[in-house]
Amino acid sequence: MCGIVGYTGAKLAAPVLLEGLRRLEYRGYDSAGICVGRDGALTIVKRTGKIKDLRGAVPDLPEGSYGIGHTRWATHGGVSDANAHPHADCTGKITIVHNGIIENYASLKEKLLGEDHVFRSETDSEVIAHLVESVYDGDLERAVKEALALLKGTYGIVVMHSEVPGKIVGARNGSPLVLGIGEGEMFLASDVTAMMAYTKQVVYVEDGEVVTVDPGGFRTSDLKDNSITKNVEQIGWELEEIEKNGFASFMEKEISEQPESILRAMRGRLDAEQATGHLGGLNLSSKELLEIERVKIAAAGTSYHAGMVGAYLLEAMARIPAYAELASEVRYRNPIVEPQTLHFVVSQSGETADTLFAMRELKRKGATVLGICNVVGSTIARETDGGVYIHSGPEIAVASTKAFTSQITVFYVFALLMARMRNMSFEEGSDLVRDLDAVPRLVAEILEDKATIQALARKYSWAKDFLFMGRGINYPVALEGALKLKEISYIHAEGYSAAEIKHGPIALINERTPSLFLIPDDRLRDKIISNMKEVKARSGKVIAVCVRGDDEVAGIADDVILVPKVHELVYPFLMVVPLQLFAYYCALDLGRDVDQPRNLAKSVTVE
Ligand code: AGP
Repeated sequence: MCGIVGYTGAKLAAPVLLEGLRRLEYRGYDSAGICVGRDGALTIVKRTGKIKDLRGAVPDLPEGSYGIGHTRWATHGGVSDANAHPHADCTGKITIVHNGIIENYASLKEKLLGEDHVFRSETDSEVIAHLVESVYDGDLERAVKEALALLKGTYGIVVMHSEVPGKIVGARNGSPLVLGIGEGEMFLASDVTAMMAYTKQVVYVEDGEVVTVDPGGFRTSDLKDNSITKNVEQIGWELEEIEKNGFASFMEKEISEQPESILRAMRGRLDAEQATGHLGGLNLSSKELLEIERVKIAAAGTSYHAGMVGAYLLEAMARIPAYAELASEVRYRNPIVEPQTLHFVVSQSGETADTLFAMRELKRKGATVLGICNVVGSTIARETDGGVYIHSGPEIAVASTKAFTSQITVFYVFALLMARMRNMSFEEGSDLVRDLDAVPRLVAEILEDKATIQALARKYSWAKDFLFMGRGINYPVALEGALKLKEISYIHAEGYSAAEIKHGPIALINERTPSLFLIPDDRLRDKIISNMKEVKARSGKVIAVCVRGDDEVAGIADDVILVPKVHELVYPFLMVVPLQLFAYYCALDLGRDVDQPRNLAKSVTVE
């Protein structure tokens, strides 16, 4: 959504703030700004555009050893210099940066205008600066707490006042905030990537908590000023994991490291000897797992598609009724929570508002909710009743790739575990363990064929519309392929269950609308070939992702992408990688910013 940073210590603050914002740019990047304090004055520098634009526009960065910064994904008010953060109060002595949405900002703004406050932006966030100003009496922490008590909505904020040099107050409710502890310096940020270059000692700020920092230390308390003791934790990632390491983009790096990330997702979780899976962190006994009669999965975007694959795996392997639902729909549907039902929420960032609020609604109704997350210590990971980390390493590119294959790896292990507790035989389990074990090597094989896919992307990147077709367990993969293409190349793309095109979408077929079919050699192969022929009969261009040696499919399609032959439940791993690469190369061909596509943010922490 947005990225916020704060620094206080002995260094020049501006370079630290800008470097932190650069690491957070994947969270939102339509404008950026910093505010630095020195000698009792605060200097704000902010612009539309990205961090590099801000650096370029301001050759002489303000000097000072404490400050705050922000990189924005607009929610209230257009993209403009005035709407960029930081925002100041009327006096210019108080400045704030905010990530989240203040739902009652209009009424608060009306009241403040009635008290002759002068606003300079259209944003909801600016209200916070004026609220703090209206109650400030020399104690910044207390004024921030009093102002926050009036807010409805979500916030991750950092605030400073020119009269209290070196002090920064941070607070969170619904939007992430992490404290980094250095030697004689303190960092605040939306996530740990902004501070990893300086410290690995962190404190995760929870909802309703306020943290006050100065170079010598920090204090955590609640809005009623009750002190709170926090644990200092160690960041598990290495700095090079958030660098590109020679790849042209984070997206190319993250697509390419999937053999390793899938391996990390399964490491220590596949048991060949017992032909089953092991997942720590479920916090459920074998008896409780055996009593599960249905599974419901809620997520957003790519994580939702992974949840759909997970539902197929659970039904196919463990014969447990399983349903994937959009988290944004679950939250407001007054969901029915049934006994013997296990709920999962899936979220790479662990901060997606739709998924977080769906989880809270389900828990409010008594559901047991497990999380499948990537970011350790993220809000969803901390609030669920248990769960599994996918260990895919930081995913920086806005378009999710390696998280998807790691999420379905976890679902595969969980489905195997549940299946082997039920009717699946040792032999069947052994075959599935073997098939999953082979996936990293097979994905690596597909990655060796990038040139073929790049050539194909170049051949089709002219298209304005694209259809992606899959069936069964590969239907969610078709949806994911369409999402990848549209979100980074801006080509309109839709995913369909292949049989469904007869019920309307086939009207779209013409020589200007290519279709991509996923055609594994599973029991639906002949049906999908029929669907492909229906498209060909209407002059539609067809790309087929099919098994090496499938001459029949190769003879019908205009172009093919070949994958190895595997067990039918394993194809999602092998089918999605060519689609990720296809979208990536189309976007490159069209000159798009593959890591930071327009209008998007990596973690959508607003509804
Ligand atoms: C994926 O390419 C998209 N950027 C987006 O759909 C993403 O998957 C969705 O916002 C969910 O994010 P999460 O996994 O962090 O919850």
